[in-house]
Amino acid sequence: MGARQARKHKYVVCSAWPYINYVPHLGTIIPLLSADVVARFLRMRGHDVVFVSGSDEHGTPIEVEAVRQGVEPRELTDRNHELVVRLFKRWRLSLDSYLRTEHPIHKEFVRRFYERIYANGYVFERDEELPYCENCGRFLPDRFVEGTCPYCGYERARGDQCEACGRLLDPAKLVSPRCAICGSRPVIKTTRHWFLDLTKLQERVEAYVRSNERFSEPVRAFSLRMLEEGLRPRSITRDTKWGIPAPFPGAEGKTIYCWFEAVLGYISATIAYFKARGQPERWEEFWKDPDARTVFFLGKDNIPFHTILLPALLLATEEGYTLPWDVVSNEFLLWEGDKFSKSRRVGIWIDEALELFPADYWRYALVALRPETRDSNFTWKQFVEKVNSDLNDTIGNFVHRTLIFIKRYFNGRVPEPGQLEAEDEELLRFLKRAFEEITSELEAFRLKSALRIVVEVAREGNRLLNEREPWKLVKTDIERAGRALYIAAQLVKALAIFSAPFMPDAADRLWGMLGMEGSVHEASWDEALEPLEAGHVIGEPEPLFKKIRESPEELREALKRLRSKCSS
Ligand code: MF3
Ligand code: ZN
Repeated sequence: MGARQARKHKYVVCSAWPYINYVPHLGTIIPLLSADVVARFLRMRGHDVVFVSGSDEHGTPIEVEAVRQGVEPRELTDRNHELVVRLFKRWRLSLDSYLRTEHPIHKEFVRRFYERIYANGYVFERDEELPYCENCGRFLPDRFVEGTCPYCGYERARGDQCEACGRLLDPAKLVSPRCAICGSRPVIKTTRHWFLDLTKLQERVEAYVRSNERFSEPVRAFSLRMLEEGLRPRSITRDTKWGIPAPFPGAEGKTIYCWFEAVLGYISATIAYFKARGQPERWEEFWKDPDARTVFFLGKDNIPFHTILLPALLLATEEGYTLPWDVVSNEFLLWEGDKFSKSRRVGIWIDEALELFPADYWRYALVALRPETRDSNFTWKQFVEKVNSDLNDTIGNFVHRTLIFIKRYFNGRVPEPGQLEAEDEELLRFLKRAFEEITSELEAFRLKSALRIVVEVAREGNRLLNEREPWKLVKTDIERAGRALYIAAQLVKALAIFSAPFMPDAADRLWGMLGMEGSVHEASWDEALEPLEAGHVIGEPEPLFKKIRESPEELREALKRLRSKCSS
């Protein structure tokens, strides 16, 4: 029973902070959703969990969009942050703290953090040659400049990172550079910047990456390749106005590069959380206790910032921060074979999605199709199939039949099992194995395979009902009919618990239909195996999911109509 006696731990479950230039699309919400599933699961397991994320407000993606819309960056981020906070609630993301990089707690934490590593001797200044757009009158750091990647030759690489090969870039080294705002060819100009001396930290970061046994193979391999190429100093400061002021002597007017401060946001958000609860010191227990675990969920392009930059920064404080316990990356989601694109309107955004179907449907489909080992495709056809066959026909149908029969033939009371048959014992053993497997898959953050086993439990339940046909048996052998429904009821109860992290609303409704007290989200994970006693009175059964009747083509049209309604 290893799975049942886990030691309790402190966890910070972190999800990459979305750039708040737009509302996220379905691909951007995958890390948040994955983190939510894990946070919910860990809470039910009895761990001490803080689930954090926030809006990444600074940086060139926001500035570029603000320029495009002709508004101040702050106006753009205020508007989007508020919208996203509301949407995340509707997506049932159980965030304990969703901060923003403009929050005073974050800005203050970042300022002190950099003062500290400056004092420790990890920051030096020197002149740097950078692309400068004479037409726009500004330096072009990061995404303000585009060009050809000097490593892999990809032609639409951005100044900060190449999307094709994932490498971090030096904007002055882009081949055939052009200004992302106006398209002109920049000149090279000299400007002074403050650098993080990563060479001094290389050895310790490398030892950390090599010794972290939790990293998946792709995360480890990507990080080690970067380390083997050798870490070079990277500039912390930028010549943009929008951002957190750099606190270094002589750096007046410069700001901190968004990546160098946003990765510290996980800590700021934890500080904010405990401050709001009147326990301002407690955040340190989650970030400095060697027993505490920090887990990060992110898209694969974010890997080096979490396996190299963040550990380097934490080490440079010499304040005893624990290093990331695990970094869990997902591959990219494609939309009907194409990349999500705001400008070309390819994909679906998280506000639109909820206009069409409940959050649970999307949450289920996104985890079931989660791109874990390679980029994968999301199609309307697959979405309809997942919802109709897994949710409706398998889980929904099993649950509904079980509860309706109990209601109809046994007065709404879980029947007496009498003497269990060999197959009943077998099914209960299957349930216990499923419990252990779902638990260990979730502990390893393999969400997709955990979810597959959840559906498998319902499938076994359907098989039981189809074989025993309790609706016929009631006329000939009422005791045997009751026995089948007793076993089915145990599976239904377990399903309510198993579904809770994935489909929080459906699971809670199911909990109510079972006549259980309170909310399933306050139940403990181990209750999945605690039998519903004979005689227990169930609640009112109602359908858990609805079948999608529209064809993929009709759904495509529905989305188009929705868009024309919203934009008019
Ligand atoms: N905003 C970044 C992106 O969307 C992710 C920032 S993660 C954080 O790629 F750690 F910096 F917050
Ligand atoms: Zn320009």
